[in-house]
Amino acid sequence: MEPLLVRHALGTYPVYIAPGALADLPEIVAAHCGARAVALITDTTVGRQYEAWESGSNSAWSMGGDRPRPAHEWATRLSVSPGETFKTRDTWASLTDALLDAGFGRDAALIGLGGGVIGDLTGFVAATYQRGIPFVLVPTTLLAMLDASVGGKTGVDTPQGKNLIGAFHPPVAVVADPATLRSLSDAEYRSGLTEAVKHGFITDTGYLAWIEASTTALLARDLATLEVLIRRSVEIKAGVVASDEREAGTRAMLNAGHTVAHALEQVSGYQLLHGEAVGLGLIAECVMAGRAGILPSGADQRIASLLSRLGLPVRVPFRTRAEPIRHAMGRDKKNLAGAIRFAVPLEIGKMGPRNGSWTVGFDESTIDAGLAAIL
Ligand SMILES: NC(=O)c1ccc[n+]([C@@H]2O[C@H](COP(=O)([O-])OP(=O)(O)OC[C@H]3O[C@@H](n4cnc5c(N)ncnc54)[C@H](O)[C@@H]3O)[C@@H](O)[C@H]2O)c1
Ligand SMILES: [Zn+2]
Repeated sequence: MEPLLVRHALGTYPVYIAPGALADLPEIVAAHCGARAVALITDTTVGRQYEAWESGSNSAWSMGGDRPRPAHEWATRLSVSPGETFKTRDTWASLTDALLDAGFGRDAALIGLGGGVIGDLTGFVAATYQRGIPFVLVPTTLLAMLDASVGGKTGVDTPQGKNLIGAFHPPVAVVADPATLRSLSDAEYRSGLTEAVKHGFITDTGYLAWIEASTTALLARDLATLEVLIRRSVEIKAGVVASDEREAGTRAMLNAGHTVAHALEQVSGYQLLHGEAVGLGLIAECVMAGRAGILPSGADQRIASLLSRLGLPVRVPFRTRAEPIRHAMGRDKKNLAGAIRFAVPLEIGKMGPRNGSWTVGFDESTIDAGLAAIL
């Protein structure tokens, strides 16, 4: 299994992407962490799937073949409650207490098996435990595979906001097994696809066209198709991040669709899934860019038609108006001198700064026209 190499400020790490890769986890951990004592951190939902897979019972993750080596033989399992509401300092404290009580020292290593919440939590525990120990990321949601496996960001939420406490601590390896995605809910699965659509939209028309041609296979969660998708998206995000470690320029392009998306998530009280909000954000921002003459008008229809074929919402699925969304966008930390900023590619599939800036501002009537298209 040839891994993809992700470069970061302090080195590189491999991302293993293949159906069935999970069965090689003990060997991958041993290869990258040596003879360290290992703790495997997961949430109760993913933990149940892992147990079913491990015990050989009728599991959505099963690829047939030999039974995997049971985790209890090579790792200590720690489990937390699932969901964003548990991505907190309290959960961080309970995990670090559990590790201390179990006698884990500086020579320990962690595995984060789960979605982005488990990845961020495990990474933050690894960044801080005994001043930093290695960890292996095993993302089990599409969002976590495409997005959280690159960038080295770890952290927890606080009542004041999301991801406000954290550290930069890249994993030593990532294992993305598309077979684990078979147990994901339809909504979570589809929502993860929007980050891939975004990757094609900002950097690669060939990739966008491939996604358009692959909707049936993607909706069927075809493993070979998913392997291609995950590989290309990780490659794109890794390329963008590596070219811009300080998050000043190129990297801003990864925020395409996200100015509107973050506001929609807030206004929905975080009921809208992140990927659903990003899809709606891409449509609205394309409408704005079309009106401002910086993208061809019609870009929004192309994105909306793809998202709709992928079973994603193209209209905000709850009652709201433009005003609260505009208000929430006004509070975005990416704003320059109070003006709301949007990351819009030079053309579909091509990134670059416009007049030296990676983001653009639109006047109020243009913003409202964009929002009206999704309301
Ligand atoms: N570090 C980064 O660069 C980065 C990037 C993107 C997102 N994130 C973070 O990721 C989080 C969102 O991640 P998420 O969408 O994966 O959410 P999540 O981790 O909460 O997972 C969503 C739900 O799916 C369940 N689940 C996970 N894998 C499953 C599987 N294979 N089968 C069945 N159920 C499964 C989980 O138990 C959870 O209930 C946010 O906190 C966000 O800040 C971090
Ligand atoms: Zn995102």
